[in-house]
Amino acid sequence: MPRPSQPSLLRLLHGLTAALLPLAWLSGLVVYSRYDGRWGRLPFVLPGDWIDLHGSIGVALWPVALLFGLYALSIGRWRLRQVGNALPLLALALAVGSGKAMQEDWLREGQLHHLAYHVHLLAWLALALAVGVHLLELLRRGGWPLLLSMVKR
Ligand code: HEM
Repeated sequence: MPRPSQPSLLRLLHGLTAALLPLAWLSGLVVYSRYDGRWGRLPFVLPGDWIDLHGSIGVALWPVALLFGLYALSIGRWRLRQVGNALPLLALALAVGSGKAMQEDWLREGQLHHLAYHVHLLAWLALALAVGVHLLELLRRGGWPLLLSMVKR
């Protein structure tokens, strides 16, 4: 069977998204733990302005996610017939969209009731599940060679 390979533009946009997303996800977890924590907190407190850091990662992520989304919806559209590929894109759109609808001071001021914040929390959960499904589905379809085709030539 031929070794799977991916187009360079997909590898670039997908790689940037896949690199920034865990940073956004983890910094979001720290922000949730410090400013919300209704359903549990991390057992430690990290110093620093994590809302600022999370916001900056978000600012770097959204143009990359937009370009990746445009690629996936045009050149890469045939791949979105795979549910395992479509789900992370949907969750990413929800996370970026709801994040942009939020205001930086809400959590600092204890305003935890906004709809955009609840959607953002849901998107955070959905992303973890969707990326898990994505990776499992890729492993099932093509094993490690397919997974690794996104990171190496
Ligand atoms: C971190 C979040 C991730 C998101 C949001 C994401 C999203 C996507 C999307 C939307 C596609 C379809 C692209 C298109 O339509 O052309 C895709 C394809 C792919 N992704 Fe990811 N992905 C993520 C992580 C990963 C990781 C960690 C790997 C493994 C290294 C990976 C490997 C692949 C591969 C191999 C394909 C091509 C699948 C195919 O040919 O159908 N992805 N990804």
